[in-house]
Amino acid sequence: MPDRRIQLPGKDMPTAWYNIMADMKNPPTPYLNPATQELLTPDLLTPIFPMALIEQEVSQQRWIDIPGEVIDIYRQFRPAPLHRALRLEQALGTPARIYYKYEGVSPAGSHKPNTAIPQAFYNKQAGVKRLATETGAGQWGCALSLACTWFGLECTVYMVKVSFHQKPYRKTMMRLWGSEVIASPSDRTHAGRAILEQNPDSLGSLGIAISEAVEDAATRTDTNYALGSVLNHVLMHQTVIGLEAQQQMAIAGDYPDVVIGCCGGGSNFGGLAFPFMGEKLRGEAKKDIRFVGVEPAACPTMTRGEYRFDYGDVAKSTPLVKMYTLGHNFMPAGIHAGGLRYHGMSGLVSQLLNEGYMEAVAYPQIPVFEAAALFARTEGLVPAPESSHAIRAAIDEALKAKANNEEKVILFGLSGHGFLDLGAYENYLDGKLEDFALPENELCAALAELPIIP
Ligand SMILES: Cc1ncc(COP(=O)(O)O)c(C=O)c1O
Repeated sequence: MPDRRIQLPGKDMPTAWYNIMADMKNPPTPYLNPATQELLTPDLLTPIFPMALIEQEVSQQRWIDIPGEVIDIYRQFRPAPLHRALRLEQALGTPARIYYKYEGVSPAGSHKPNTAIPQAFYNKQAGVKRLATETGAGQWGCALSLACTWFGLECTVYMVKVSFHQKPYRKTMMRLWGSEVIASPSDRTHAGRAILEQNPDSLGSLGIAISEAVEDAATRTDTNYALGSVLNHVLMHQTVIGLEAQQQMAIAGDYPDVVIGCCGGGSNFGGLAFPFMGEKLRGEAKKDIRFVGVEPAACPTMTRGEYRFDYGDVAKSTPLVKMYTLGHNFMPAGIHAGGLRYHGMSGLVSQLLNEGYMEAVAYPQIPVFEAAALFARTEGLVPAPESSHAIRAAIDEALKAKANNEEKVILFGLSGHGFLDLGAYENYLDGKLEDFALPENELCAALAELPIIP
């Protein structure tokens, strides 16, 4: 009987992050200054990011050493286990072998601490006292709160108002770890007040909360900003996931035909996929691996968005990134996978998708919850609704393998647990979930607000 849980000894934990920019065939598209639309210069970022992270953002070095202090904290919950989904395979009657890398073992319950910890470390090293950030459903806010507590930094989290009221327990976790949590839009910032003036009942969005957090950081000398996804350095920190998975797959004596991850801003997908994609780009891969990013049909950035320069936030204060986007003013429907409700996508993931190195699929939430329920009943773990998008795609790949009688090896990222999403599961079990198909006219209206960059 094969092992169901493949552990990596602590001594084999990665000591360097992998930077895919070193292996991409075309250099990554540089960011633009949001005010002038000219090439972004580092001085625009220094008021809100420490220099070490700005350097990582543009580095072409293939390997970047993980600082010893960060490795020490990673050891608190890493290496994370790789599981063979034997019970799920049996339930599906598939000849495919399914593996999942489980990031729900971190104290915050997701992959987000993999980057929160180094971001807090580099800010502390640069003498910063306080970090400001945004959070949607609360996973990123929890991860940064924990990291700030460990490094003795203050932390303020602007939490999208609808989640602030609907997901009170994530707020409690952030406060327990010492953070101040503010419902966004708030009256603390110009950006928040401008939104409230237009619409006092605004339920907020990630794009609004980012504007508030960036403004907070830019207007205080003791404060920097931290982002939980999208940026190059964030995806690079997450490669500990894929680097561990490569070793664990070797221990299991297997190699994936397909690697799957859910995509909000692209960080857990990039973290798992990039080390394997690097092997493929360098001509070292043992198979012609496929890579699949999975998103919600209600926020179909990669499958229905445009590959264009856009702002990361509503107030147009972030750099312009060339990415798949639905437009910075896009307001997604209130699906339960809060962490996948972002209008844009990582520039690196977008470029790799545009150049044909990966595929993207979108699912409505009911089939996603059906997959999550089958997974919970077979493998036992309660998955986060975000991660359940990857489960849906993995099950569909396994069913395709069954129909074709092929022994495919499927690896997917289980980016977090869903213990604080039980309200969503309750709705699913009571038959109260709804699917949202994004109407074409709404999509066109949001895309019409994209900046025109020659
Ligand atoms: C559990 C989980 N998975 C996935 C995501 C999506 O983010 P990303 O695409 O950056 O991994 C989130 C975001 O909050 C999340 O909480």
